[in-house]
Amino acid sequence: MIRAVKTTPYPDQKPGTSGLRKKVRVFQQPDYAENFIQSVFDVIERERAGATLVIGGDGRFLNREVIQVAIRMAAAATFARVVVGQGGILSTPAASNLIRRRGALGGLILSASHNPGGPEEDFGIKYNVSNGGPAPEAITDAIYARTKAIDTWYAADTPDIDLDALGEVQVGGMTVEVVDPVADYAALMETLFDFDAIRAANLTMAFDAMSAVTGPYATEILERRLGFAPCTVRNGTPRPDFDGNHPDPNLVHARELYDTMMGDDAPDFGAASDGDGDRNLIIGRGRFVTPSDSLAMLAANAHLAPGYAGGLKGIARSMPTSAAADRVAADLNIPAYETPTGWKFFGNLLDAGRATICGEESAGTGSDHVREKDGLWAVLLWLNIMAVTGKSVDQIARDHWGRYGRNYYARHDYEGVDSAAADTLMQELGSNLASLSGKKIGSLVITEADNFAYTDPTDCSVSTNQGIRILFDGGSRVVFRLSGTGTSGATLRVYLERYEPVGGDLDAETGAMLADIAAAADELAGIRRHTGRSEPDVVT
Ligand code: G6P
Ligand code: ZN
Repeated sequence: MIRAVKTTPYPDQKPGTSGLRKKVRVFQQPDYAENFIQSVFDVIERERAGATLVIGGDGRFLNREVIQVAIRMAAAATFARVVVGQGGILSTPAASNLIRRRGALGGLILSASHNPGGPEEDFGIKYNVSNGGPAPEAITDAIYARTKAIDTWYAADTPDIDLDALGEVQVGGMTVEVVDPVADYAALMETLFDFDAIRAANLTMAFDAMSAVTGPYATEILERRLGFAPCTVRNGTPRPDFDGNHPDPNLVHARELYDTMMGDDAPDFGAASDGDGDRNLIIGRGRFVTPSDSLAMLAANAHLAPGYAGGLKGIARSMPTSAAADRVAADLNIPAYETPTGWKFFGNLLDAGRATICGEESAGTGSDHVREKDGLWAVLLWLNIMAVTGKSVDQIARDHWGRYGRNYYARHDYEGVDSAAADTLMQELGSNLASLSGKKIGSLVITEADNFAYTDPTDCSVSTNQGIRILFDGGSRVVFRLSGTGTSGATLRVYLERYEPVGGDLDAETGAMLADIAAAADELAGIRRHTGRSEPDVVT
């Protein structure tokens, strides 16, 4: 029996950078999750009959409840099969892999990524398409349009299923298959990396799973398959509230790991991942590697891992990510792509075989093995490179800078800024761009200023208004953007970058190297004047 439930639209269901992300309280309103899920199903109405849908999430508060709802609604939408991770768990990269392996039409990933979880915190729903990647804008726009018109949602009139029992059950006319969330993903990793070499290298490491989804993946792969010591994985059990922590693997929220890695007894390698397992933090003994540098260093050394022994087709990075990877691409004589922020913009380049490795300053790195960024993938590629070269992270970094020069880089975040004030700041800055060229600020000369727009080379779709870039003479720059993933107020992100060529000062303190660019950023945008803030909340 199918229940048809009358509903009224919510006006605020526009998917952001990465799906619909709101406070749990918002999702708990009557029909809220149902309206969004039905809108997704309505948009794919013509393909969904008889198709497979993957469902899973990062285990945060509300995960299980929304999965049960989504299963009943999928049955009503005439899907033939739902594949769901045991316990409702699937990391975002593992979900992407499952969608591809199972030839699924798509997947619902329930996560708010690196945002905190719990009854007062965040939840999210994202729809991924058949290539395993986030739905492109044409689809998210259609979903949003549908949420504004929806009047009915449909669900099979069936009880909850046991999400913890592996195997198949029937829901209405649909089969639900509860699968081990780790198995297929771990098997994929074994095809890409030289597990024997990593095992033989006898490296030591600390991995902080931040009480989020990567725990079971990291324990299986690092401790069981690669033989790292017990307790290498810290905070390895996914919890609905991430034990009250903020599962964002940066130097603020993964402070303990950072302190461990800077201490006298530091292991060889330290890493962390976020709520849904797609981000990564990389810290060698005594050496933090920025995500932008990590992308460049992984790209430069990827051929050392079996999955990339044939070389790379191209490297893609989001616009605010530093240009370090571009130098590697130039050296390898392969194309470098600069896309807007958001992993979804890499999907077409990967599908078209134009790029093999992609990365973002927001701690995301990945490749064409799935269509999401992948935290453990980055960890394993680093380990593979360390094992084959016998070098420490610090040595790999120094060698890299010695060859390519160094892009000093930091991101300053101003969080919880009044939305109107943030909009005014961006508008004022944006309205002046043409006049900035040639202007001198301190010792910096502006060569170019624009509002970044991207034309996808595969389908010619155009995305405008993707962040303001101000380029200085010599390869330095500052970028301004408003975050597209927050759930309260606005977050202003200011990305600072300074290029120091080979032979220059390659081992200086990042803050000192960026001080004049930070001062220029404030002068150009009036950060203090608009936000009332004299310091960023987070520096990564
Ligand atoms: C998510 C996306 C990333 C993107 C990031 C940007 O994590 O998956 O691809 O880089 O959001 O977040 P922001 O808050 O800067 O919009
Ligand atoms: Zn994430």
